[in-house]
Amino acid sequence: MRPTRRDMLKTLAGGTALAWGGSFMHLAQAAEQSEAPAEPPGPVPEPEPRIERFERMAYGMFIHWGLYSLLGRGEWVMNQEKIPANEYRRLRNIFTASDFDGRTIAGIARRAGQKYITLTTRHHDGFSLYDTRGLTDYDAVHSPAARDLVEDFVEGCRAEGISPFFYHTTLDWDHPDFDADFDAYLDYLHASVEILCTQYGDIGGFWFDGNWSKADADWKEDRLYGMIREHQPEAMIINNTGLHKRGHVGHPEIDSTTFEQGRPEPMDRRGMPKYISAEMCQTMNMHWGIAKNDYNYMSVQDIIENLCACRKVGANYLLNVGPTAEGAIPDYERAALERAGQWLGLHGNPIYNGKPCGVAGPGADFGLDADGMLFLFVHHLRLGHGQQAGEVQGPGPRMFTGVARDVSSVTWLDTGEDLEFEKDGSNLNVTATGFPYGTNTVVRVARVS
Ligand code: GLC
Repeated sequence: MRPTRRDMLKTLAGGTALAWGGSFMHLAQAAEQSEAPAEPPGPVPEPEPRIERFERMAYGMFIHWGLYSLLGRGEWVMNQEKIPANEYRRLRNIFTASDFDGRTIAGIARRAGQKYITLTTRHHDGFSLYDTRGLTDYDAVHSPAARDLVEDFVEGCRAEGISPFFYHTTLDWDHPDFDADFDAYLDYLHASVEILCTQYGDIGGFWFDGNWSKADADWKEDRLYGMIREHQPEAMIINNTGLHKRGHVGHPEIDSTTFEQGRPEPMDRRGMPKYISAEMCQTMNMHWGIAKNDYNYMSVQDIIENLCACRKVGANYLLNVGPTAEGAIPDYERAALERAGQWLGLHGNPIYNGKPCGVAGPGADFGLDADGMLFLFVHHLRLGHGQQAGEVQGPGPRMFTGVARDVSSVTWLDTGEDLEFEKDGSNLNVTATGFPYGTNTVVRVARVS
C-alpha cells in the first residue's frame, strides 16, 4: 500500500526511509513521484525470530583486516595506489597474523558491550582469512600465518558469548574471472561462501559488500542466498547497499538494510512484505582498514551518542576497528570501546531491548520501550552545579510527547535518583538533573514506572 503524497511531504523533514513496493525509497525521492494512490499503508509485519534476535544484539564490532593491513594505508590501498595484482600478492609472503587471537578480540567486544562481530573473511583484494580448501592458494593457510584465522575467530567468539558474522566481498580486484568470465567468477564466489556456511558451525549472519561495483549485473542472488538458507537457516543475510543507496533493500531474502557511514533514518515498515531490520556501520576514524596516519578519531562521547542515535530509530550500530598488520586491535580503539562499554554496563537493558514506541523528546532526546517498560534518553546535560558550559540545553525540564501510559515515577538508571515530573495528557515533562559532581555519563537514561 502506498502513502499519499501529502503523507510523504509531511514527513519529508524527518528524512524517513519509506517502504514502497517492497523496497526502501527515501521520501525526498518518493515525493518527486508525482501521483501516488491514496490507499492507507498496510500493517507492519512481525519480524522473523532471527531478525528479532539481531535487533536485540543492537551493537556489534566490525573488523576490517587483511593483507592491506600490512601497508597501513586503508583497505582500498591496492585500488587507490594502482598496485598491480602480482605485486600486491607478495604481501601474502609476510603475513604472519602473529598477534591475531580470536578470543582476545572477542573479549574486547564483550567488555565493549558488543554482542556480535562482523569479520572481513575476504575483502576486495581477494585474499581470504579462511582455508579455501583448494579453491585458491590466495588464503591465510598459504601464508606464513599457516592457519585458518576464521576458525580461530569463530572459536574465540563462541568462548566469549559473541555471535560471529562473516563479511564477504562480492567484488574481486584479484580474480581474473571477475572481469573476464563473470559466471565462472560467481561459481567461485558461491563455492567460497559455501565453505563458510558448512565448516564453522552456526553463524550469526553473512554481510556481503560489492554488488554496487556492477550495479546492472545479474549476481544470481537467489542461488547464493538459497544456499545460505539451506545450510544456515538462522543466519542473517545482509548485503551492503553502499554509500549512495543507504536504507534501500534489494533482494527479498535480505534481512537488514545498511546505512554505511550515515545517520540511520527511521524506517516506515507499513505494508512491507517482510520486516527488515536496519544497521548503521561506521569507521572509528576515517578508514575501515588500519591507516597509520589517520588521527581523526571518534571519542567515547561520540560512540555513546552514535549508539543512542541508532537505537533511537531501532537500528543496530556496527562500529569498525582496523587491527594492526599482525592482527591486534590497536590501543586507542580498545580503550575507547571498553570505556563506552562501561556506559553500557549501566544502560544495557534499554539499549539492547528498547524499541521506538512513538515517544519523542526535544533535540536528540527520545524514548524507547523495552518489553513494556519505558526509558527516556536525555542528552546534553551538565554537572549539577553548572561547572560545564556550552551545552544546548543543560539540566531542567524536558518535554516528552506520546507517553500514553500512567506514570508514577521517573528514575535515573545511573544514580537511582527520582526525578520530578508532570503528566499532562500524553505529555510527560521531566525535570532532568545534571550529572552529580564526579560523573559525566554523556547520555543519561531514566526509567519510567
Ligand atoms: C565500502 C568499502 C569497503 C568497506 C565497506 C564497509 O563498501 O568499499 O571497503 O568494507 O564499505 O561498509
